Amino acid sequence: MTVLVFLDPAFPAGRVADASAPALMATDQGATRGDGIFESMLAVNAKPRKVQAHLDRLASSARAMDLDIPAAADWQLAIGTALGAFAKAAGTESGEVVVKLIATRGVEGANRATTWVQASAPSPVGEAQRRDGVDVLLLDRGYDSSVAERAPWLLLGAKTLSYAVNMAALRHAHAQGADDVIFTSSDGRVLEGPTSSVLLAHVQDDGGVPIKRLITPALDSGILPGTTQGALFAAAKAAGWELGYGPVLPADLMDADAVWLISSIRLLAPVNTIDGTEIGTAEVRTELTAELTALLDAALAATE
Ligand SMILES: Cc1ncc(COP(=O)(O)O)c(C=O)c1O
Repeated sequence: MTVLVFLDPAFPAGRVADASAPALMATDQGATRGDGIFESMLAVNAKPRKVQAHLDRLASSARAMDLDIPAAADWQLAIGTALGAFAKAAGTESGEVVVKLIATRGVEGANRATTWVQASAPSPVGEAQRRDGVDVLLLDRGYDSSVAERAPWLLLGAKTLSYAVNMAALRHAHAQGADDVIFTSSDGRVLEGPTSSVLLAHVQDDGGVPIKRLITPALDSGILPGTTQGALFAAAKAAGWELGYGPVLPADLMDADAVWLISSIRLLAPVNTIDGTEIGTAEVRTELTAELTALLDAALAATE
């Protein structure tokens, strides 16, 4: 089941559209050029999580590509309409719903963005990845880690609709029997997954006192600033973890006590192997994943 709500000045709370009928012009530049932006957020029991962080990143992606989009308040109203319609159709408010915000450059020649909210049920893959972990391949993205600043037209820090490359990387991994991908830069830095941020943990024993460090690649290396990574870092810091921002090398991942892929819908998925090599031990991965998942759940619930 999918619910669509278009942002439309004639409908202040958004216009609900029949998701089984055509709703987009064939000349929309989102379809013809992948020229647009999006956000994916999780709603739990009809309440969207970290909605402000997603609206802030949507606005920042829009600025990066000179796209004029509706104000945050209009998106908020449409999100409420979509979640209300989804709960009504499902007969319940309980459970997880994926809420996507989408803005394209609109129909050719119209000079007006096409914008809508989509609510749908999550695929079972995210839950399985949280529970069972993932096997990952390291793949070269082909850009160096300073290209984002040098070539802003690559839109590397923006969440654009042009995800064909990311999907191709995932298909490549699946064809090799892996579940997911961690991209590296051409100068050998760890970047991000095609739909996730990368985290790693080191735990040291300092005379009986564990020192726990959580590390993620530097945000200026041409990656998307992850809203889930941001929420977890704030919570982990408050719980006494030390935090670090890359540069991260592939060897750092291999040496880590645990590595995760983290994103809004899948949440925290432990990486079992990278290129066939086990990361840490199953026991430590399970223990650290449980600890960080509890911190993340509490942090996300506080953003509802
Ligand atoms: C390329 C990329 N990096 C990172 C993320 C994680 O971002 P968030 O935690 O905000 O979902 C995503 C999410 O889809 C992504 O597509």
